[in-house]
Amino acid sequence: MGRRKLVVGNWKMNGMRAHLDEVEAIGRVAAAHPSVEVGLCLPATLIMAGSERRGAAFIGGQNCHMDISGAYTGSLSAEMLAEAGATWVITGHSERREARGETNADIASKSEAAHKAGINVILCVGETLAVRDAGKAEQVVADQLLASLPDDAAADWLAVAYEPIWAIGTGRIPTLEAVATMHAALRAALASRIGAEADKMRILYGGSMNGDNAADLMAIADVDGGLVGGASLSAKKFAPIIEAAEQRMAAAA
Ligand code: 13P
Repeated sequence: MGRRKLVVGNWKMNGMRAHLDEVEAIGRVAAAHPSVEVGLCLPATLIMAGSERRGAAFIGGQNCHMDISGAYTGSLSAEMLAEAGATWVITGHSERREARGETNADIASKSEAAHKAGINVILCVGETLAVRDAGKAEQVVADQLLASLPDDAAADWLAVAYEPIWAIGTGRIPTLEAVATMHAALRAALASRIGAEADKMRILYGGSMNGDNAADLMAIADVDGGLVGGASLSAKKFAPIIEAAEQRMAAAA
């Protein structure tokens, strides 16, 4: 049953005003592929200007605080992101779980705060290479997902992104079979918590997705799109991924 493919770029700590031309170009690619939902999670400094040049792409943030306001130097609330023009936000990216010590409980709270501010959420989970090598990837990632999933999670405001940590920025991806097994395990874990809603929830793959592997990854039944780092920084590299998503949608129709 038709889950609309969602393809989102995560620019991480990349992008200056000079790169707004790429935002605009990606917005045009999004407009040319209306069956796919396309977005860019920009550095906070570009959200406002990016929102004005986004075309058919949505603009998102990469993190938010769990409180609405307060003495949190350097932090941004979901409300602030929304006012700047963001309609989505990433929570729980491994680069923040690891480097910033964010816990599953923090991520559930941040996701909840985003929802209250009217922002949709891409909640990230993923295993280390040691966990995968130990044969525990599905169990560990499913546990991580259930521990960071807000209680009232629903498919109209939350998507999950499975990002194996060892695949991020490395050019390595799991086998297609491993991705299929993981995504099926995550959908089953979601069903154990939210029942039939799990069938509607999008589960993205992230980690070295590019124009060469996107079609194969998105042909997997439970892969509903991608969260893309490096290959989202230019329209030239991002467009083939959006194109692949559109072709999968057409093939499934
Ligand atoms: P890469 O696509 O650069 O591997 O990054 C993936 C990622 O972390 C997206 O959030």
